[in-house]
Amino acid sequence: MRLLKEFVRDPVGIGTVLPSSRYLAREMTSEIGLERAETVVEIGPGSGVFTSQILKMITSKAKFFVVELNPRIHEHLSEKYPNVKIYNESAENLPELIKKEKMNSVDVVVSSLPWVSFPPELQDKLMDAIYKTMTKGGRFSTYGYIHGKIMPRGHSIKKLLKSKFHTVDTSEIVWQNLPPAFVYKCKK
Ligand SMILES: C[S@@+](CC[C@H](N)C(=O)[O-])C[C@H]1O[C@@H](n2cnc3c(N)ncnc32)[C@H](O)[C@@H]1O
Repeated sequence: MRLLKEFVRDPVGIGTVLPSSRYLAREMTSEIGLERAETVVEIGPGSGVFTSQILKMITSKAKFFVVELNPRIHEHLSEKYPNVKIYNESAENLPELIKKEKMNSVDVVVSSLPWVSFPPELQDKLMDAIYKTMTKGGRFSTYGYIHGKIMPRGHSIKKLLKSKFHTVDTSEIVWQNLPPAFVYKCKK
């Protein structure tokens, strides 16, 4: 209900009416080195389905923080995860945030940002900020819905990922998710 309400207020920023499934959470967090990462960041967590999965996978020594732009979602998540540092900021500010957290770079970034809703200039700005903060060899995972594959902004995000990252792998479609989705897993 929370995502649906926020979607009505801000369809571009939220990008979906339904939380992701546990199937998508597993695909988003598998084979990206979370188990051995020293520094992990999640951006655009929404309902927190991926946050819970990340917390299950990282070690107690890993440094982890979350960035959520929507103030009401931020408040809800701060109550749900009192032991996790959650910034009410845009992911564009990641370079400043990692300095605040005394991190040199981030080994794994898990993103739920609704790329297909964003104009190319914003896609560029966000991707620059993310890429800049990542460790060389670090991993980035992000998902899209199958219908986004045929949309021009879906093409532009794929092109952008391929132009920046050393490798970009695309998962099988997660049909159990509503809407069905796929994951891009990238290595810097
Ligand atoms: C598609 S929803 C996330 C859905 C999530 N996977 C779930 O299961 O609930 C996108 C989220 O990204 C957040 N967001 C949008 N733009 C952002 C930005 N620039 N920085 C950080 N978070 C942002 C939205 O507020 C929203 O919570």
